[in-house]
Amino acid sequence: MCGIVGIVGKREVAPLLVDALKRLEYRGYDSAGVATIHNGKLERRRAEGKLINLDTRLGEHPLAGHIGIGHTRWATHGAPTEANAHPHFSQGVAVVHNGIIENFTPLRAELIANGAVFHSQTDTEVVAQLLTAYRSQGLSPREAMQKTLGRLEGAYALAILFEDQPDMIMGARSGPPLAIGHGDGEMFLGSDAIALAPFTDEITYLDDGDWAVITRDSAEIYDHDGALVERSSQISQGGVYVVDKGNHRHFMEKEIYEQPEVVSHTLSHYIDFAEGRVKLDSSQIDFANLDRLAMSACGTAYYAGLIGKYWFERFARLPVEIDVASEFRYREIPLSGKMAALFISQSGETADTLASLRYCRDNGLTIGAVVNVRESTIARESNAVFPTLAGPEIGVASTKAFTCQLSVLAALAMIAGRARGTLSSEDEAAMVQALVELPRLSNEVFHAVQPQIEMLSRELSRFKDVLYLGRGTSFPLALEGALKLKEISYIHAEGYAAGELKHGPIALIDENMPVIVIAPHDRHFEKTVSNMQEVAARGGQIILITDEKGAAATTLETMATIVLPVVDEIVAPILYALPVQLIAYHTAVFMGTDVDQPRNLAKSVTVE
Ligand code: F6R
Repeated sequence: MCGIVGIVGKREVAPLLVDALKRLEYRGYDSAGVATIHNGKLERRRAEGKLINLDTRLGEHPLAGHIGIGHTRWATHGAPTEANAHPHFSQGVAVVHNGIIENFTPLRAELIANGAVFHSQTDTEVVAQLLTAYRSQGLSPREAMQKTLGRLEGAYALAILFEDQPDMIMGARSGPPLAIGHGDGEMFLGSDAIALAPFTDEITYLDDGDWAVITRDSAEIYDHDGALVERSSQISQGGVYVVDKGNHRHFMEKEIYEQPEVVSHTLSHYIDFAEGRVKLDSSQIDFANLDRLAMSACGTAYYAGLIGKYWFERFARLPVEIDVASEFRYREIPLSGKMAALFISQSGETADTLASLRYCRDNGLTIGAVVNVRESTIARESNAVFPTLAGPEIGVASTKAFTCQLSVLAALAMIAGRARGTLSSEDEAAMVQALVELPRLSNEVFHAVQPQIEMLSRELSRFKDVLYLGRGTSFPLALEGALKLKEISYIHAEGYAAGELKHGPIALIDENMPVIVIAPHDRHFEKTVSNMQEVAARGGQIILITDEKGAAATTLETMATIVLPVVDEIVAPILYALPVQLIAYHTAVFMGTDVDQPRNLAKSVTVE
């Protein structure tokens, strides 16, 4: 999603703005722009496509000034052209925006009727035009800002420059996050702490409905009603992480290979390995007295939640109600006092997940959140935060956040099982023992399967469609595998519960449809083998991901059999995620796609 940055400082800001935008690239974007005020005049440079294009433009036509705003745009209203790129100008006002102004059509019509001339197809331009309209009625920038915000419906993070105020940037937040960075004689605005990390680690997050006026040495924050409010600053973790690719070709590759380390880090946060038990404080969610758990998330985080459902139901006998957040929020699910809700999000900012959280909170449920960004809105609005310690995930396709989410959900399911008396301490100790082995086994898997998967991916890159099958927790992993492949290689892929095959998708099977079967030798294995027989009988090409026992137990001819170590069922989805991610990654590399920023996708989805 769009990224925002603003600097009011004591040095040339254009290169700093571009540098900050580079740190926001991971969010996904299709055009970019910056504006500064220099000698009392607003000027901007914008470019379609990647930041390199903006950099080139700035090289040809430099932009001077010690105050400025910048933006990476992920198109919602209007094509990703230069004319639609931000900042948008309207007579001495410049605006950058993340979100969607839902009532932009009537606002635009009203402004046009009053003589405004629009230069883009964006919803954002109405904000600039409204500010201009109010300023031309004689209102001060603060008054115009408050009036304008009162007219906007929808979601926004905004940064605004006024040509006649060369020492001041205004920001506003309703939905998508916006942070103020405190420097020494310089102040900053940014979509997140990572963008501001090279400048400062002292960050104040605006609350929903807040707007702010920042100058070189001050930040005033007003709430929705225009009352001056105090919001405390905090020292952010954003700067401690090195956001570079190291020796890897892509962030995604780096993040895949980081998993043994970050999963181990995450598990150590929740598990006392010496004692053989989960050390989480069970009082945060009263699992013992729940009769249902509601869960919701989007995309990959949702698939992590689906796997979590299997664990909560099996190990804690706790029924789980789970849905993608874009449905959950509107489903009007009846909620009772004996329920709690758990939301899963890497960014902690996903609009649909946040709306689902608020629905549950408004219905009086205790809210738990599994999040990777601890300062995020979802974390701040939850009663209990269960962090994933994955570090910043830059590749748009989620990898290490997924396995860290699974690690946290495994620990939560175990604590719930203990609290509800359904998991014996012996079983808990056995599961902990299995999890201890996970980082080492993950490294072994990388070494063992990497060359084979590279070769296989070259083959796969020739196909147009791929089917993924699995049973039990391997079913959500099949869905995740299909999502990963389609989002970065653009090959059409579907995930199915293996048992569903004969209810429809079997019609697709022929020699042009490789079928990736995820099947550890668990209690579902024999049934999955029967489904593989059905595929083989119809000329389908099978890629089997199994363990040593599974490989020994089947004589079926496969296009490839990827063999992993035999592991406990709580560990299997985490370990099996690795070859699934590598298949998508290498296939995309062979296809030559933009692996880290696949087309049309955004990292932090702050609009519906
Ligand atoms: C897929 C992917 C997305 C996200 C989804 C939720 O690889 O990354 O499907 O999982 O947009 O995002 P978060 O976890 O930030 O709420």
